[in-house]
Amino acid sequence: MSRKLHIKTYGCQMNVYDSRRMADALVADGFVTVDAPDGADLVIFNTCHIREKAAEKVYSDIGRFRVLKERREADGGRMVLAVAGCVAQAEGAEIMRRAPAVEMVFGPQTYHRLPEMAREAFAWTPGRPRPRLLDTEFPAESKFDSLPEETVASAPSAFLTVQEGCDKFCTFCVVPYTRGAEFSRPVADVVAEAERLVAAGAREITLLGQNVNAYHGVAETNDQEVGLGGLIRRLSEIDGLARIRYTTSHPRDMDDALIDAHRSVAACMPYLHLPVQAGSDRILAAMNRRHTADDYRRIVEKLRDARPDIALSSDFIVGFPGEADADFAATMALVREVGFAQAYSFKYSPRPGTPAADADTQVPDAVKAERLAELQDELNRQQRDFNRTTVGRRLPVLLERAGKRAGQLVGRSPYMQAVHVDLADGGQAPCNGGRIGQIMELEVVAAGPNSLEGRATDAAARRPAA
Ligand code: 5AD
Ligand code: SF4
Repeated sequence: MSRKLHIKTYGCQMNVYDSRRMADALVADGFVTVDAPDGADLVIFNTCHIREKAAEKVYSDIGRFRVLKERREADGGRMVLAVAGCVAQAEGAEIMRRAPAVEMVFGPQTYHRLPEMAREAFAWTPGRPRPRLLDTEFPAESKFDSLPEETVASAPSAFLTVQEGCDKFCTFCVVPYTRGAEFSRPVADVVAEAERLVAAGAREITLLGQNVNAYHGVAETNDQEVGLGGLIRRLSEIDGLARIRYTTSHPRDMDDALIDAHRSVAACMPYLHLPVQAGSDRILAAMNRRHTADDYRRIVEKLRDARPDIALSSDFIVGFPGEADADFAATMALVREVGFAQAYSFKYSPRPGTPAADADTQVPDAVKAERLAELQDELNRQQRDFNRTTVGRRLPVLLERAGKRAGQLVGRSPYMQAVHVDLADGGQAPCNGGRIGQIMELEVVAAGPNSLEGRATDAAARRPAA
């Protein structure tokens, strides 16, 4: 009988993508995936190390799963607990020490070796010492060359990693240490994977990279390098690929070719996550961001010139070491000036091994909390306002999944807003096996803080009011 695999994913979209590729590799080796951990033979925690809270959550989850493991093994079964991802990379040996129930620990660059590692773990027989496998190398061979192709149908919206790692070394960030040096996949590989995803049902692809707009993959026909703008242009030629997004970008790499893709490539969606982190030049310098607040303003101006309706998203850190009231005020001023459709904001979390963690100008938690509340108030207000501006408009919505209510579907607007809609056929148009995966024009009839309500513009598809 097939072994059962359960993957629990923490953190960013790249981990979601990686989990899928791990599942592909193990399914090709005879596993089946299961949604619940009970009864699983192999449980993989695909972890995130970006902030302390994320890392601590993994240890508490391992504790909970240990109980499941003990119960299952008391009944003569087997449950291998494995830790993957960035916590594994950063704290592999520590996990082995702190969590004896964990039998496999492996970093993000070694997923292609996973089937072999799993085989070794399952070769164990009672009475012998359990294998404890640790692999946190950055191997010379690329996992992308060795992972099997995707085996399962794709969701309408799929992720595709095109770039990994980071050479920027922002002083707060663990990514250059956990994901390693920047690396871009060749254009031909990306195109081939995108074509497979589209053939498997994807209508939208989000190109992923820790520094995705630093992408510089080797071209298909010569050994020149292609930037992200060029890659998007190439991908837009794929029949059936209606939408292209990319994340996460760095302001320094927002070049003209990429900005121009927003102007001239119809599939390039009018939404951009472009973290600025802070609005004070002093703090931006201390963060080693290598751009000023005005540089950011100029980039936004260019983007809006190229695509006037572009919706912007960002990341912010409050309470970075040395952040004074005036610095925080500069962040607030930038936020008010730019206007964001949505954003993520965090208290600075000192990460071991990063330069800022050692600064002796740490900001007290109470101050961080106060600043975060003020910033989030403003960002939430902006998000609500942005959502309201779409009320009354007709937007193409990519229907992605069933909603909570019967007959309800949920999709995304071009601006990444979640849109709920009730349809007369409950989403099951018989001619094509359902509406999920279709892009449907909807009129936005209401806006909440986190989602919109849409109504089919085609009266026949509309569900009559009860
Ligand atoms: N503390 C708080 N937030 C952080 N981020 C990265 N490192 C830290 C840290 N040490 C945030 C940044 C980044 C996002 C992914 O997480 O805003 O853009
Ligand atoms: Fe981290 Fe992004 Fe800075 Fe790279 S550019 S160090 S991933 S915050």
